[in-house]
Amino acid sequence: MLVEAKKDIFSQLIKEATHDELVWMNGFLAGLLDQRSLAAGKAGAMAGGSSSAEVAGSAQIDKLTLLYASETGNAKSVATKFAAATKKRGIKTKLVSVEQYKLTDLAKEKYLLLVISTQGDGEPPITAVKFYNAVHDANLKLDKLQFGVMALGDSSYPLFCQAGEDVDKQLELRGGTRKVPLQKCDTDYASYADSWLDAALGLLAGSDGGAAAPSAKALAKAPAAGSHKKIYEGTVITNFNLNDRDSAKRTHHIEIEAEDLLYAPGDALGLVPPNPKAVVEEILSLTEVDAQSTIAWRDQTHSIEELLSLKAQLLYLPERVVRKYADIAGQEIPDTRMSLVDLLKIYPLKNNQEDFQQVLQILEPIAPRLYSISSSPEAHGDEIHITVARDQFYVGDKKETGLCSGYLIDVPVETKVQFYIHPNKGFKLPPEDKDVIMIGPGTGVAPFRSFLFERDAAGAEGRNWLFFGDQHIASDFLYQTEIQAFLETGVLTEFNGAFSRDQQNKVYVQDKMRERGAELFEWLENGAYIYICGAKEPMSFDVEKALTEIIATQKELSFVEATKYLDALKEEGRFLKDVY
Ligand SMILES: Cc1cc2nc3c(=O)[nH]c(=O)nc-3n(C[C@H](O)[C@H](O)[C@H](O)COP(=O)(O)OP(=O)(O)OC[C@H]3O[C@@H](n4cnc5c(N)ncnc54)[C@H](O)[C@@H]3O)c2cc1C
Ligand SMILES: Cc1cc2nc3c(=O)[nH]c(=O)nc-3n(C[C@H](O)[C@H](O)[C@H](O)COP(=O)(O)O)c2cc1C
Repeated sequence: MLVEAKKDIFSQLIKEATHDELVWMNGFLAGLLDQRSLAAGKAGAMAGGSSSAEVAGSAQIDKLTLLYASETGNAKSVATKFAAATKKRGIKTKLVSVEQYKLTDLAKEKYLLLVISTQGDGEPPITAVKFYNAVHDANLKLDKLQFGVMALGDSSYPLFCQAGEDVDKQLELRGGTRKVPLQKCDTDYASYADSWLDAALGLLAGSDGGAAAPSAKALAKAPAAGSHKKIYEGTVITNFNLNDRDSAKRTHHIEIEAEDLLYAPGDALGLVPPNPKAVVEEILSLTEVDAQSTIAWRDQTHSIEELLSLKAQLLYLPERVVRKYADIAGQEIPDTRMSLVDLLKIYPLKNNQEDFQQVLQILEPIAPRLYSISSSPEAHGDEIHITVARDQFYVGDKKETGLCSGYLIDVPVETKVQFYIHPNKGFKLPPEDKDVIMIGPGTGVAPFRSFLFERDAAGAEGRNWLFFGDQHIASDFLYQTEIQAFLETGVLTEFNGAFSRDQQNKVYVQDKMRERGAELFEWLENGAYIYICGAKEPMSFDVEKALTEIIATQKELSFVEATKYLDALKEEGRFLKDVY
């Protein structure tokens, strides 16, 4: 097809391209072809002919409701981009979060596109719970509705895009017409979102104007279940404890070296931890299976040992898996979470080896864990850093350690690890001239370390203020040396530390914020962006309450009015949270 000289250039180009460059080229060429065929169609029409592309150009819906259900901002950012594109095409577009959406309007809608993420263990985002419950109401009648759902998710989770799938199904059950097939998207959704919108608009318009054909072609560009996220192979090059010996905590700074890293400050690193060796060995011994025998599991073949070590969740199984185990074992088991080892010991299988093959099939993939990236692409090149706190909890009176944090804290240098980038569009740095207030106690400091290195490397002129907190200044001041250096060089304009257990009364970041309320408010009035990262409960709620009180005091508003002020900041994208 190509002459030799062009073929050489083409081969060279794709040989040297990274995955993301290939994705970009793919999209670029598809767009170019669409434009050319549209132009050819128009030329044909002008000459008296007609083409399907021309029909696509003329048939268009006039009004659209674009809903989004988002927790960390990705679905919101996709829907916002969609709204800009549809408005540009002259479609009257109502863009609204399901949280603010008047549920009684649903029955009146004609054209609706919904972008919804999945959170937790296959659940809708918190902002979508009311909407999610409403569409499950059998009395809801949506006979007029023509809809399409784009479901954002992560294929590493056991229940991929479950919330989107549920809502899509319910909208149809309530009488709506699914004009656009459900699009499940992995974390690489950004690379095919635009072509999905093209397709969706064409398919919605198809009901009135018969313009579905060319747009269905565009839909084909969006992968069926989007499993193209880039998996990086990295090597652990540093792993040390940031807490001092006397601390009750362990928080590790881990550096991983990898090639062609593509991320932005505010993103997280996702990885699937292996199961502990002792657990795998115990299961092999209890079931007496041949560890090296192979098994087909979720479209792939593994040895049983590999499946148990790296793929299948063995600890703290969800109730739904325990119920399936009870069916296989033919035993009554309470509806509770348990480990596979406990199930095998307390409720033994009747035909050990035979039944165990069935048990393997009901196991779910190990869910990935996310860690805020604490390095900066500008400052750290081929390294990616994370800040991992050991998660400890009691089971009865036994102290246990979380699977992934336990693994990472002990992971030796030179270990090869696989990971991916979990984008967080809702937690990004502002333009360089803007001021930034960062509230990040504990591991919440991680993305702010990234922000500070990035702003320093970029020479950003905006001011930076960090609130950090932990238990003791002597043992728990994470990244103390770096923070002090940032203060000395002026990268950090302001710093406040809250060390809760260094005095009789506990002092937290929100107390430090209140102490500095007047200046903090002045920064806000001056256009500063404010960020919270770290524990959702109780920290993020306490900090938000303190912030509202500061605004109320400084601006002499009621608490309700101050909440509205904060809501306006959220709406402007100047109050951002990344909490877990
Ligand atoms: C966007 C995002 C960013 C994050 N960033 C960071 C970060 O920068 N640093 C960081 O340290 N963490 C971060 N986290 C948290 C991190 O992803 C993990 O959730 C955390 O490390 C715990 O994982 P684990 O595998 O160690 O614990 P798991 O084994 O998953 O256990 C988690 C919890 O489940 C319960 N549990 C588990 N097993 C049992 C059992 N047998 N019986 C009873 N209860 C049980 C316990 O409550 C336990 O605390 C982030 C999370 C998100 C969503
Ligand atoms: C704590 C957590 C749990 C998640 N659980 C799931 C899940 O069960 N299934 C899934 O497909 N995706 C899951 N995801 C991935 C998100 O759906 C995905 O990152 C999405 O882009 C987030 O969009 P949002 O920012 O609009 O909420 C989870 C993400 C997080 C942070």
